[in-house]
Amino acid sequence: MQPMSRRKKPLFKDIEITDLGAKAKAVGHAPDGRVIFAPYLAPGDIADVQVTKKRKAYYEAKPVEIKKYASIRTQPACAYFGTCGGCKLQHIDYAHQIKYKQKEVENNLKRLGKLDLPENIEPIMGSPEIYHYRNKMEYSFSARRWLTPDEIKSEKPIDNPEGLGFHIAGMWDKVLDIKTCHLQEEPSNQIRNAVKDFALKHHIPFFDPRHKTGLLRTLMIRNTSIGEWMVVLQVYQNDRQAIESLLEHLKQNFPQITALQYIVNEKDNDSFYDQDVILYHGRDYIEEKWEGLTYRISAKSFFQTNSGQALRMYQKVRAYAAIQPHETVYDLYTGTGSIAQFIARDAKKVIGVEAVADAIADAKKNTALNHIDNTEFVVGDMKTVFTQDFIDQYGQADVVITDPPRDGMHAKVVAQLLSLAPERIVYVSCNSATQARDLALMKDQYEIVKMQPVDMFPHTHHVENIVLLRRK
Ligand SMILES: C[S@@+](CC[C@H](N)C(=O)[O-])C[C@H]1O[C@@H](n2cnc3c(N)ncnc32)[C@H](O)[C@@H]1O
Repeated sequence: MQPMSRRKKPLFKDIEITDLGAKAKAVGHAPDGRVIFAPYLAPGDIADVQVTKKRKAYYEAKPVEIKKYASIRTQPACAYFGTCGGCKLQHIDYAHQIKYKQKEVENNLKRLGKLDLPENIEPIMGSPEIYHYRNKMEYSFSARRWLTPDEIKSEKPIDNPEGLGFHIAGMWDKVLDIKTCHLQEEPSNQIRNAVKDFALKHHIPFFDPRHKTGLLRTLMIRNTSIGEWMVVLQVYQNDRQAIESLLEHLKQNFPQITALQYIVNEKDNDSFYDQDVILYHGRDYIEEKWEGLTYRISAKSFFQTNSGQALRMYQKVRAYAAIQPHETVYDLYTGTGSIAQFIARDAKKVIGVEAVADAIADAKKNTALNHIDNTEFVVGDMKTVFTQDFIDQYGQADVVITDPPRDGMHAKVVAQLLSLAPERIVYVSCNSATQARDLALMKDQYEIVKMQPVDMFPHTHHVENIVLLRRK
């Protein structure tokens, strides 16, 4: 039987880019009226685009040639822009990036949630640092890195096949080798490059995920605003000699590293949350200090990744909550209890709820460290834990702060929140589409009083949104 002939996908010429859509994709229109979504273009560009996927209502395409460059374009700082898959908005100047993020949040709430927004929506809080804003980077080793199209075309043997960098989107075994990433301050790049150079020089093999060979798997680098650095090396086997020689090299060359650790993970996947973390040098945590509070962060702890902007976001949450000394507060989806601790001194008591037991263990350790004695933490899935019994046990909340994951709150949680009926709710969201859905369920009982989008991740499509709700 002959294979079915595949129709060639169209190339559209001179497409005017008119908007930015979800996930940082630029929007234009094809001659047949269908919407075109294409990455790495900017509103105001005119470009030829090659269709990669054809759907009933839209096309997905990639730029082939840009005929006119938009005035809102700027030069991306990163040499890997377009290949790495992160920081997809670097070609648009920052003032315009955040303008589009604000518009997306407002549109989601108005169109998806059919919500009435207050007139005085606050302008999006941009990040003061648009590079070097991350406090945590996770790199992967690969025995066979991603090759550039030029390297493939040249047909020359590849004499440096190893890579240490980021996974190419959608390719679990391909890693783009990185020499400079602009997301974390130095010595982040120096540490990563030193690890790679030392490993190559001493023939310490990089992991090959396809064949399950090699030693070096991942490298995590974390830092805090008070200058503490954590490095966690993940390896496939307990080759003590190789591991210790590499870590000793870091210890000797980077006195900034106050927590130097490793993990031996013999599983097929890189997830190390079920593995022991072994201390090689220093302490097994680093500390962040905010407004006199100390947050201890261990290798497995969650901590907001843009420290400076997270502090500003928490300050805004606290201002919106306007907690009085006699008030009880629930901090739902509390993580390691960072918000709970931040607001504890304003409240009578704070109850935090979180599904991950280790996070709650960290929350308890941190509150003890900070001599906070008016918080309680509960481990469990919100949809099963947050019941009338819970409310009877911990008391009626005057204020609820809720910060769910991207999926938003389960309908059962929203229903319980409505039955609890606190006077104020501060809803922090990292996905305004699911936030819109949840707020729509609450709109008969609650009005939106204030709203503040926050940009935690410049150059990416992510945007947070804080909403203050008041019971009607
Ligand atoms: C966006 S984070 C909020 C973290 C915290 N508020 C902070 O600022 O560090 C969402 C948290 O919700 C937790 N989580 C996710 N689903 C949950 C559920 N069904 N029940 C309880 N917690 C959940 C996650 O483990 C995560 O810690």
